[in-house]
This record gives sequence, structure tokens and C-alpha cells, in this order.
Amino acid sequence: MVAFERNDKRTHYCAELRKENIGERVCVLGWCQRQRDLGSLIFIDLRDRTGIVQLAFDDNTDRAIFDDAFGVRSEYVLCAKGVVRARGEGAVNTNLPTGEVEVAVDEFKILSTAQTPPFPIVENSTTNSETRLTYRYLDLRRPDMQRNIFARSEITNIARNYFRDNGFIDIETPVLIAPTPEGARDYLVPSRVHNGCFYALPQSPQLYKQMLMYSGFDRYIQIARCFRDEDLRADRQPEFTQIDLEMSFADEEDIIAVNEGFIKAVFDQFMKQDVQIPFPRMTYAEAMDRFGSDKPDTRFGMELCDISDVVANCGFGVFAGCVAEGGTVRGITVPGGAAMARKEIDSLVEFVKTYGAKGLAWYKNTAGAPTSSFAKFLTEDETKAILDKMNVAEGDLALIVASKPKVVFDSLGALRCEIAKRRDMIDKSKFNFLWVTEFPLFEYDEEDGRYYSKHHPFTMPMEEDMDKIVTDPGAVRSRAYDIVLNGTELGGGSIRIHTTERQKQMFAALGISEAEAEAKFGFLLEAFKYGVPPHGGLAFGLDRLVTLLLGLEDIREVIAFPKVQNASELLSKCPTPADPKALSELGIAVVAEKE
Ligand code: AMO
Repeated sequence: MVAFERNDKRTHYCAELRKENIGERVCVLGWCQRQRDLGSLIFIDLRDRTGIVQLAFDDNTDRAIFDDAFGVRSEYVLCAKGVVRARGEGAVNTNLPTGEVEVAVDEFKILSTAQTPPFPIVENSTTNSETRLTYRYLDLRRPDMQRNIFARSEITNIARNYFRDNGFIDIETPVLIAPTPEGARDYLVPSRVHNGCFYALPQSPQLYKQMLMYSGFDRYIQIARCFRDEDLRADRQPEFTQIDLEMSFADEEDIIAVNEGFIKAVFDQFMKQDVQIPFPRMTYAEAMDRFGSDKPDTRFGMELCDISDVVANCGFGVFAGCVAEGGTVRGITVPGGAAMARKEIDSLVEFVKTYGAKGLAWYKNTAGAPTSSFAKFLTEDETKAILDKMNVAEGDLALIVASKPKVVFDSLGALRCEIAKRRDMIDKSKFNFLWVTEFPLFEYDEEDGRYYSKHHPFTMPMEEDMDKIVTDPGAVRSRAYDIVLNGTELGGGSIRIHTTERQKQMFAALGISEAEAEAKFGFLLEAFKYGVPPHGGLAFGLDRLVTLLLGLEDIREVIAFPKVQNASELLSKCPTPADPKALSELGIAVVAEKE
């Protein structure tokens, strides 16, 4: 191994070299992808963040350099200088951008040796994710991971530039804060100076960005790290990044327009494709009614059909009884689904049960010999009425759930996505953006027997629903909106409350006492006394945006060092037990030992 010296400077990245460079003397730096020893010839594929170039060593190469090249193994770090030349007859590799040339090496340094890596550093790895994450620094050397991380950087830069060009100011808000009510559990940080007291890590910069509006900054943007101690899923991480913004003297239309402009900029500059703005809009009520979801995937049909009125008086107790008890009976029609095997239908029955449905009624409209789980309880006319309403053609399959609205929406909403995925009904080239508006202000929690904010308690109710805030809180709509892409919630925001009176009404409706409101949000209520502009904003999930634009399924593919399901990080093995001395300074005693 030899020292890296001042003049060992890269002249070109590996994948930049082309026929046009033939005859030039270059210096390339990188990792050995592969060494091939053909006796009197040695080839090394040298890799850096741009790709690969071939280094050649032959009879004309200095003996000592040839011997060094002979000893090179995968992932050795190399510095090679030499002249670019055309590859020999028959040696051109058309799969490689640099495939017409090679570097005839005349100066060579092994800067680092390497053990054989635990998995090959290649595209489309089949290595299990645990190994990949344990050696993430190696995983990140793989070309697809490099592309993902570059893409993320690029999209972040587009965001910074777009919002700056539109008058937004980048302002950092604190990370050690008082709890923000976004609805997830907080990560707490103990204070050494104030023993027994804790900071929370921000679930979002929500309150601070609002206060920046009170301060007159007018348009705020931050690429903000957020922390939420919630159960992980493929589109969730305990720490993630938001493109977070807030605007004063703005209503829904201003906020939606600015953000559509941002998405357009991303499509122009990064995706290099056109995207049609304005995006379609749908109220929450319509989204639930048609798709059983507040984040509908509109790339395929199979919309929900309400057959409650048709079955209200039918002979099948499960349907009629459900309607009588105030429930709802709805179904979806799977085109060509009658060809599905019983076993597969049974698996769909099991699928809806995970969403609380007691069962899934089905009707296979097979030509000449339909079969069904429920038709035997109905008259022919009753069955026909259902099939007509649901538009069930010959060859189709009808799937029906009868239950409380929440269960029906949750189960059918998920079922239509599951079937579309299984039957390959989704056009993956589509980017269907959608604004979902007029979200309910409150959400009832059956377990706690009380209402919670659906978004957060600073969201402005719709003026026309204010009379219901005490009498019928569940029916109050809010000035909140989400931006949805292909069935994923990409971002969300709202117009905020900016008067003491409204904010107090809101706390009261949520059962937050005056004393509690004062203790938790006293500073906000105090601020309202000093002139607060009307304002609103939105936050995109940056990780989700990048994941979807790259056509990936797992958010971890676009995060350099993500956490796994149980919120630990496999590389550094955190979280770890704390040093007893540190705990003692913090006044903390651990009562439950790590399992
Ligand atoms: P919300 O809670 O809807 O709104 O979050 C905004 C967006 O952040 C992303 N997101 C996540 N991404 C990855 N992992 C997570 N655990 C996670 N949680 C949320 C989603 C989501 O749409 N303060 C408000 C915004 C506002 O009102 O302006 C907020 O945080 O893409």
C-alpha cells in the first residue's frame, strides 16, 4: 500500500471516458469491481460513483506495476494513471458507456486493500435486507443505491431552488422542543440541567413554522427532519424528512398552486416528463364513498358500489340486518374475476377479516353456471338487482362487505388495491396525483370514547360547519388537504386557526381544559394577542416522494441509513444502553432492563 499524494488527483470520473479521450493521459480513482488475469494480460474494472472503466496491463506495462495489478482483489481502492486507448478488436463492450476504451496503466497505486465483501457489489442485489443494512456502507456502493441517493439529493435541490425562487425563506427550527401534537408518540430527550424534565424531538416543525408567520416571514420552507415513535411500515420511518412550508395571507388555492408548481418543477427537471397541473381534487367524503380510502389510488377502477338500498329488505339477514342496524353494504366488481379459483377467493375472505370484516360475500358470474356464497338466500330478482347496481357482467366477480361504515371502507378500500396488485391491473407508468380536501376536523376514538383532531388542533374548521362543533363534532369538516400520489399520502396541510376565540373553541371541543391548554399551548394563545396573519401550509414527505418517483416500494431504499422494523439501526446497533454515569447525571434510573 502506498500514500495518496497531492498529484494523485482525478482528472476524470471513470464513466466519463469515451472515444474522444483517446490519447489523453488520465488519472482515475476508485474501487476494483473485478480483476481478470489472462496470463500476459490483466484487466481491472475500476468503479467510482459514475460507473466503470477498464484498466489494462500487458507486456508493455512496467513489471512492478503488472505484479501489483496481479494481486488486486475486489474492492481494493486504486489510483491508476495512464493513456486512454481504443480497445482491441472484438473487445468492445457495448453494454458499458466506456466500453470502447481502456486505460493503459503506467502509474498505479493500491491505496487500500479489502477483504472479500459479504455480498457482491452489484446492481439488483438479492442479498437479504438485514445483511445489506448491517454493511450499509457496502450496500450504498451498489449502483442502484448510488442512483437512489443521487436522485434524492437532486430532488432536494429542486425543492430548495423552487421555493427560494418563489420567495420562500429557509429557516431552521429547533430539534429539542416541547411536544407537538401530530398524533404519534414522541421521542423524549432527558435534560441534565432540569432533572426529571424532557424535551421532545419534533414530530414536525408545526408550531414553530406558524410562529414564523406571526413574526412576518411570510413564506417559510425547511427540509426538516421529523421524529415519530410509531409502528414502522414500508412507507414509514421513525425519523424522516419533510419538505415543510408555510405561507401567510394565503388560502387553499394559493397553497395548492405553489405546491403543484413544485411537483411540476420536479417532473420537468428530474423526471424529464410532463405532468398535467392542476391536479384533480376530491372531497374526503367522495374519496371514501368511491374508493373506501382517503388516499385513493386512481390508476385503476373497481370503485365501491353502495347497495344498501337494494338489499335493505332482502331475504339475507346479514345484508338486511346490517342496514337495519345503521351499517352499510357495499361491494366491488372485479372485471374477469369469475375465473378466480375458490382458493383465491377464500384468501380474499381472510384478507378482509384483517380489517375487521366478519366475512366477504361473493358472486362469480360465470357464463351459464354462476356460483355464489349468498345467492341461495335471495330471490332471483333480489340477486339481479344487486348485479345490476354493481354492473356485474358475465365473467366478473362481485365482492360484498356488510358492516359498520368504517369496517366496510377500510376492508373494501384495501381489497381493491390488493386485487389490483395481484391481478396486475395497475399501469405502473402512471403518476396519478390527487388533492383530497375537506377532511373531517375530528376523529372519534372508540377505545378512549372521545374525539381527537384528525390533523392537528391548529387546523381551521370550515366556517359553514362551525355550528356543529359542539352538537355534532364528527360532522365538522376542516380546511385540511392531502396530496396523494398513486394511493400514497405524499403530503398534508391545512389553513390554520389564527384567532384566540377559534383556538379556544377547538381546545374545548377536544376536551382540553383551559388549564391544560394554558400549560401546553399558552405561548400560542398569548401570541394570538399580538396580531397573527391568516396562514396555512403543507408538508411533503420527502422520502415518500423520492420512493414513488423512482418506482420503488420501500422507503428504506432512498434513505442512506434507515432504521429497521423494530426501530433499531443495524449498522451502529443503536439504540444502546446508556452509560450509568450519564444516566445518573440525568437523574434517570432504568427500571425495565433490555430484553
Ligand atoms: P403530516 O403528519 O400529514 O403533516 O405529515 C406530512 C407528510 O410527512 C410524511 N410522513 C412520513 N414519512 C415517513 N415516515 C413517517 N413516519 C411519516 N409520517 C409522515 C407523509 C405525510 O404526508 N405538520 C403537518 C403538516 C402541515 O400541516 O403543514 C404534518 O406533519 O408524506
